Amino acid sequence: MKYYLTTPIYYVNAAPHIGHAYTTIAADTIRRLKRMQGYDVVLTTGTDEHGQKIERAAAAAGKSPKAFTDLISAEFKKQWSDLGLHIDRFQRTTNPSHAAVVRDLFERCLKNGHIYKGSYTGQYCVSDELYVNDAKPGDPCPDCGRPTETVTEENYYFRLSAFQDRLLELYETQPDFILPETRRNEVLAFVKGGLQDLSISRTTIKWGIPVPNEEKHVFYVWFDALSTYMSAVHDEKIHGESLWPADLHLIGKEIVRFHAIYWPAFLMAAGLPLPKRIFAHGWLLFENDKMSKSRGNIVRATPIQKVLGTDALRYFLMREVVFGQDGSFSYDALVGRYNSDLANGLGNLASRTLAMITQYREGVIPEGASNQQIAQVATVITETALEAYERFEFSKVLEAVWSLISAVDKYIVDNAPWKLAKNPDEQDRLNEVLYTAAEALRIATGLLWPILPESAAKIWAQLGCRKPLDDLRTAELNWGHLEGGQHLGIPSTIFPRADAKIAIPQMQELEVAEVARQLEILGKKPEPPAAKTSSDSAEPSLAKAITKDGFITIDDFGKVDLRVGLVKTAERVKGADKLLHLHVDLGEAEPRSIVAGLALAYKPEELVGRKVVVVANLAPRKLRGLESNGMIVAASREGDLPVLASFLEDVPVGARLK
Ligand code: MSP
Repeated sequence: MKYYLTTPIYYVNAAPHIGHAYTTIAADTIRRLKRMQGYDVVLTTGTDEHGQKIERAAAAAGKSPKAFTDLISAEFKKQWSDLGLHIDRFQRTTNPSHAAVVRDLFERCLKNGHIYKGSYTGQYCVSDELYVNDAKPGDPCPDCGRPTETVTEENYYFRLSAFQDRLLELYETQPDFILPETRRNEVLAFVKGGLQDLSISRTTIKWGIPVPNEEKHVFYVWFDALSTYMSAVHDEKIHGESLWPADLHLIGKEIVRFHAIYWPAFLMAAGLPLPKRIFAHGWLLFENDKMSKSRGNIVRATPIQKVLGTDALRYFLMREVVFGQDGSFSYDALVGRYNSDLANGLGNLASRTLAMITQYREGVIPEGASNQQIAQVATVITETALEAYERFEFSKVLEAVWSLISAVDKYIVDNAPWKLAKNPDEQDRLNEVLYTAAEALRIATGLLWPILPESAAKIWAQLGCRKPLDDLRTAELNWGHLEGGQHLGIPSTIFPRADAKIAIPQMQELEVAEVARQLEILGKKPEPPAAKTSSDSAEPSLAKAITKDGFITIDDFGKVDLRVGLVKTAERVKGADKLLHLHVDLGEAEPRSIVAGLALAYKPEELVGRKVVVVANLAPRKLRGLESNGMIVAASREGDLPVLASFLEDVPVGARLK
């Protein structure tokens, strides 16, 4: 069975940024999901290159529209390939094969009596390429707020007013034609309010597809642009099944009206099949603010990809933004999520599981039983994740998979395989723990492939699985598919930890370079960069304080005396709800007195008897009148509770970390 999905085709008056990447990454995710469900999938994207807006942008760059659109269209194509997105067709509205489809759509509508010639005098918004019917000269555009221009034109009109009832019937009989529900309600209200006929040609513009048998008219950009969804797959069939109609148009919420009202009406008028579903996602903001050129806060995807990898961006977008709602991007949140969820969560489970199999079983996944409780958890979570995928609830998919990761982490700690390894009577149990961890990791990896294709492929190969993930089907995510006796692949770190103080300035520098490169393509000079976050002006950067390229030497590291300690006593500090007073044995004559900010995260009794990592040569100081001779090492994201650094295996008190 085929599944045909599309992204909007992007205007070429601006170079690609993270907002465009958001839609295209989501489309790539859905493409992979549908693959996993067994469909023959085709994903199209492309560029929207005609109209006054583009004509003016080309003129401003001192280029012909053709030369200008060639350059920017190539930038979009390059962006998707740099991000590793699987695009099956890239359609440009300037592609000659496209014009024939636009003309055909027009002629069908004309023949069926849904198009007539008329004239319009009124206000026009160049930016949105829209007539603003009720506006007076000087009024701003109600959508974008930019000034409208007065125009008088002879036009071809599409009888949109005649389609009100048929459109309402469509929304009634196919309640999931427009998703999410909020967008559907908006469209319903709009259509119920009555529809005016729509001008579908322009005589004031030259840069467009000529209307058949007309010298002066070119097609209105939206009539032209929407037709790419058909022209991209024109007459194509997969196993005898025609690709059109599309199964899904994925769009941003601001273009719902064009897709959910105009487009089905054009197709009804032409007697052509309608797309099956339109899903409008929300807007991606920068630190809760709209991204815009004038604010200087547009983020590009390439710097993130270069510093943290594409999957870091994909994970952030799919985890942090509820699909369908607006969400906010910030570099701090991106690095925070990367470290806490990818490096510490998935990356850590993968590396500890693979390391134990390497160490205890010479890199061969053991045969034998698996833990029934974890098998059960994995089965339920797989179901939950696949159901959430079906509804495009990507953040829920990720929450589900991460609960599996936590369950397996806990299972490993509870069973302490490092202790089992030392006991000849416990070798069957050790096999069970290792197989269970590896099988859960395999299932998590398969479930994550649509969202994290690069890292999933790495973990997959390290687990020794051979089948390409593109050929993996949902049924193979059932528990027990992992073969005992399978040899692991070559291990490598999947998500190296990122230091925000180094990674963020790196991304910001690359961003400046990327903007300069894009401007150079257009023959323009870069403007001075606007500051994008407060984080670079906060406390002097550690990276700068150390060396100018952000590295420390081995000697610098050697100055820090990190030691393993055993907590002997722990009690709350009166009047300080965050502090605990500990005595920690570092293998010295006396336990050290240390005051640590751990009270919100740990109860005193939980700490007694625990091994911790201590910075042993920190200058002594007094806190609340208590002597503190060292610092306990713990990890946390800003605002989160600290988590103590600890060891997978047993280590003697006083051992030095180096
Ligand atoms: N050319 C039209 C679409 C024609 S489709 C037949 C157009 N182009 S656009 O370049 O402005 O791209 C709009 C799309 O880019 C949005 O619908 C959305 O998919 C994506 N986004 C651009 N900026 C965005 C954000 N800041 N946040 C989320 N998506 C955004 O409209």
